[in-house]
Amino acid sequence: MTDQIPDLQSAVGSQLSSLYKIHLEHVTQVYQKAARQAGKDGILIASGALKQTFLDDQTYPFKVNPHFKAWLPVTDVEDSYLLLRENKKPQLLFHQPEDYWHLPAQDPTGFWVDEWDIESIKNVSDAHNHLGDVRDLAFIGEDVQQPKDWGIDRINDETMLDSIHFNRAYKTDYEITCLAHANNIAVRGHVAAEAAFREGMSEFEIQTAYLSAIGHREQQTPYSGIVALNEHCAVLHYQHYEHLRHGESSLNSLLIDAGANSNGYAADITRTYAHRSGLFEDLITAMNEAQLTLIDTIEVGMDYTKLNFLMHQKLALLLKQFKIIDMSVDEMVQKNITFNFMPHGLGHFLGLQTHDVSGFQQSEKGDNVAAPDNYPSLRLTRKIEDRQVFTIEPGIYFIPMLLKQLQQTEDASSVNWSLIESLLPYGGIRIEDNIAMINGQTRNLTREAFTQL
Ligand code: GLY
Ligand code: MN
Ligand code: MN
Repeated sequence: MTDQIPDLQSAVGSQLSSLYKIHLEHVTQVYQKAARQAGKDGILIASGALKQTFLDDQTYPFKVNPHFKAWLPVTDVEDSYLLLRENKKPQLLFHQPEDYWHLPAQDPTGFWVDEWDIESIKNVSDAHNHLGDVRDLAFIGEDVQQPKDWGIDRINDETMLDSIHFNRAYKTDYEITCLAHANNIAVRGHVAAEAAFREGMSEFEIQTAYLSAIGHREQQTPYSGIVALNEHCAVLHYQHYEHLRHGESSLNSLLIDAGANSNGYAADITRTYAHRSGLFEDLITAMNEAQLTLIDTIEVGMDYTKLNFLMHQKLALLLKQFKIIDMSVDEMVQKNITFNFMPHGLGHFLGLQTHDVSGFQQSEKGDNVAAPDNYPSLRLTRKIEDRQVFTIEPGIYFIPMLLKQLQQTEDASSVNWSLIESLLPYGGIRIEDNIAMINGQTRNLTREAFTQL
C-alpha cells in the first residue's frame, strides 16, 4: 500500500462538473461572437511551446497561454491545440510525444473531459494533419509563424482579443469556485509561513514551508511569492529568498505576498506580521481595520478609481493618527503625500492571470481609461460590477528612496522623521484580500478561506 498526498489543485474537481458545463457554454459564446466579428468560422488556440535557454538544452518553466486554460484546466502540456468551430463539439489536440527522456502527459481525466473531443498528437505536423484546412479560423497563441505557415490570416487579432478580454472580467460560477479554492489552498501556506516566521526562520525557509503547505512546486504558483523580512518589506516586489536567520533582537517583520493555483486560477494574498508588539504591530492592526472598512464601502457601480482615492484618504488618516505626519487628511491627499507611503495601486482584476486582463477597458471595443496621473500604478479603472473578482491591497511602506524625495519638499517639516527612522527596520505593511462581487455583495474569498481553515 502506498500513501498518496492529496493533490490540492484538483481536490474540488468532483464538485465542478455541472459548473464547468455552464462555464463552457459561456466561453463558447464569448469566443464565437469575437470570431464572427472578425469574419471567421471559429478559433484555433495553441497552448504554447517550451522555450530553450540560450546555448543550453534546458527549458524555461512552461507558462500556458491563458486563452487555452480559459477553456479547460490543462496548464502544463505544451504543443497542444483547441479547435473551436461553431456548433461543433470542441476539440482538444493533446500532445503526447514519443519520448524516453521525459514522461509524456497521461491521458486526460476529470470533470471536463466528456465535454471534449480529444485527439492525441505526437508532434506539430501531426497536429496540422488532424486540423486540415484552418484558413477560415482565427488564431490565438504566442508563435505567430506557425499559423501563418498554415494559411491563417487573423492572428491575435486586437479587436477579437479586446472583446474576449473585456468579458474575462465577468467570472462564471465555475471560475469563482476555482478562485475560492485557490484561496483555500493559499491560506494553508500563509498559516505555515507565519509559523515559520514565529520560529525565526529565514526567508528561504519560510518560502519552503509555504510551498510545502500548498503542495505546489514553485513554477506552479501564479507568481513568485514575495517573502520579505525586515527592510525587505519595503521592496514592493522583493524577489530574493535570503538564507539569513535573524536573531531574536533583530527580527522585526514579515511581509508575505503569495498565491496558489486551482485549475489555472490564481489566488493573490498578502499578510504582514510583527515580531513584537509596539508601534508597527499597532499600524498593522489599524491597516487591517482600514482595509476591512474600505471593503465594506464597495458597491456595484462604484469606480475602482474612487475606491483607490478613498484608500489614500484612509492612509492619510492613519499617518495623522499615528503622528507620522502633522497635516490635515485633505491636504495630505491633495498634495499626494500619501503616494510616498503607498506607491502601488489599490488592486487589480484576478483570474487566469494574477494581474488579470482588461482593468482599463471600458467596453468590448477597448476604450481604455488610463490610471489617474496621481496614481500611475493603478491597474483597474473600471466600474465595479457583479461577477468581477479583484484584489484590495492597501499598504504603508517606508521606502528610503521615496522618503528622500519627500524630505526635499516644502512639506518635509510636517513629517516626524525620528518616528519614521524607528519604522524603517520594519519595511512596510500590505494586506491583500481577493474579493468577488456576487449579487451586489462582496464575497471576501480570502477571509472566508482563513475562517474555514
Ligand atoms: N502579487 C502581486 C500583486 O499583489 O499584485
Ligand atoms: Mn495583487
Ligand atoms: Mn499580491
